[in-house]
Amino acid sequence: TRVPPPKNEPVLSHAPGTPERRELQAVLKRMSGEQIDIPVIIGGKHIRTGKTDTVRMPHKHSHVLATLHEADASHVEQAIQTAMSVKDEWARMPFQSRAAIFLRAAELLATRYRPIMNAATMLGQSKTAHQAEIDATCEAVDFLRYNVHFAEQILSMQPENAPQTWNMSDYRPLDGFVLAVAPFNFTSIALNLATAPALMGNVVLFKPSSTSALSAWYIMELMREAGLPDGVINMLPGDGPTVGNPAMASPLLGGIHFTGSTPTFNAMWRTVGENISRYKQYPRLVGETGGKDFIVAHASAADDLEALAVAIVRGGFEYQGQKCSAASRVFVPESLWPKLKPRLQALVSEIRMGDVTDFRNFMGAVIDEKSFKRTSSYLELAKDAGQASIVAGGTADSKEGWFVKPTLVQLNDPRHRILREEIFAPVVGIHVYPDARYEETLREVDQAASYALTGAVFARDRKAIDTALRELRHAAGNFYINDKPTGAVVGQQPFGGGRASGTNDKAGSALNLIRWTSPRTIKETF
Ligand code: ALA
Repeated sequence: TRVPPPKNEPVLSHAPGTPERRELQAVLKRMSGEQIDIPVIIGGKHIRTGKTDTVRMPHKHSHVLATLHEADASHVEQAIQTAMSVKDEWARMPFQSRAAIFLRAAELLATRYRPIMNAATMLGQSKTAHQAEIDATCEAVDFLRYNVHFAEQILSMQPENAPQTWNMSDYRPLDGFVLAVAPFNFTSIALNLATAPALMGNVVLFKPSSTSALSAWYIMELMREAGLPDGVINMLPGDGPTVGNPAMASPLLGGIHFTGSTPTFNAMWRTVGENISRYKQYPRLVGETGGKDFIVAHASAADDLEALAVAIVRGGFEYQGQKCSAASRVFVPESLWPKLKPRLQALVSEIRMGDVTDFRNFMGAVIDEKSFKRTSSYLELAKDAGQASIVAGGTADSKEGWFVKPTLVQLNDPRHRILREEIFAPVVGIHVYPDARYEETLREVDQAASYALTGAVFARDRKAIDTALRELRHAAGNFYINDKPTGAVVGQQPFGGGRASGTNDKAGSALNLIRWTSPRTIKETF
């Protein structure tokens, strides 16, 4: 290949005494006292709309980190015009020149921007240093580097030739703009949603989540410093429908790159449907939505009980369970439960939760009041005697920050709401099944939830693994054998799921990037 072969960015430990820890602490201190003013950004211009919202630390909600200027329909219109005015020049730029901007962004992020992006993600999204490092730095750097590599794979896919002819595939960008709508939970996902279409020559309207606007602001700063021309990615913070609806009503909508909730994505499909006859082209709809991600243990996992316990705790509680991939329903055979239960209780009792700038904490707070309240209503459900029993946690406290204790709930009914609905918080439902009912349990796992994002099976018996692969064929887009269902690595586990979890256009692979192209076939006869 002509581009540098990518490698996954190594995860720095941030252990006491390391230079990365000192640098990060210095930036955390500075950023905590800064109160940045985050503008709407159109064509590189900063617009302070005056309609503002505040960005607060989830683990200390009295602390305002930034002020956010919200866009309205007129800004959306302005952003579409600006983006379309730079589109041709951007698309005509040789691929190598475009690629160099993204590779430079990767280098900047791996070095000078590393503590900045990690700190913004820690303070604004309540991630621990480790969770910020694997997201805002490593995965984001990986997206930037690997996408260039994947794009080159796409460009090299060329048709056969016959005598006197030359056939070519010309991977044009879409004939319009791309609307990128990002979630709060991964800085890397926000970056990928905006940059993947741009790399393929598209122009982008980027709507970050308001709660993670601080890291979104630094994404824009990073890309500007890497040399991305003004107007290629325009940032429009604000209310979802206020920004999204005028963008989706534009005849120039070329595609939507979305990660977020299933109801929001469904609403977008409906809006696109209503506008269908207005568009110049059928918009590409690429979305990764919710999950109700499972861990199913088979009796043959008895020798690996510690690995199973750690997978439940890490998969369920890292980043407070706010990963679309988080383990949130666990199925355990009766023979394993007597030993697994006390081990889980011991592990959970060791978890420290609190301010993420105290590096000893393993968990921070959930993102905002809305999430806290929704989760609290599920904790009420978990107190439903006869139906549910709390194995660990079960309480929440909002005095300082939006803290929800890591909670394990045992449920008799395998179709209990806690085992079917996405909670997006540190609440894991557990159902204990009779060992002889392994296959029936797999079928229950397949049918009970509408989602199909990630899942894991723990077993040593190869037949049990094969049965799970067969019965759960469509129940997960990312399937893990003897590992937790979180932590997909770009280039190693292309990420995405089907059913109500999205369109399964695998982020971190050529399959995603190809969606941002509209190939033209050219035949020349000599
Ligand atoms: N890609 C993220 C994970 O696998 C969401 O955990």
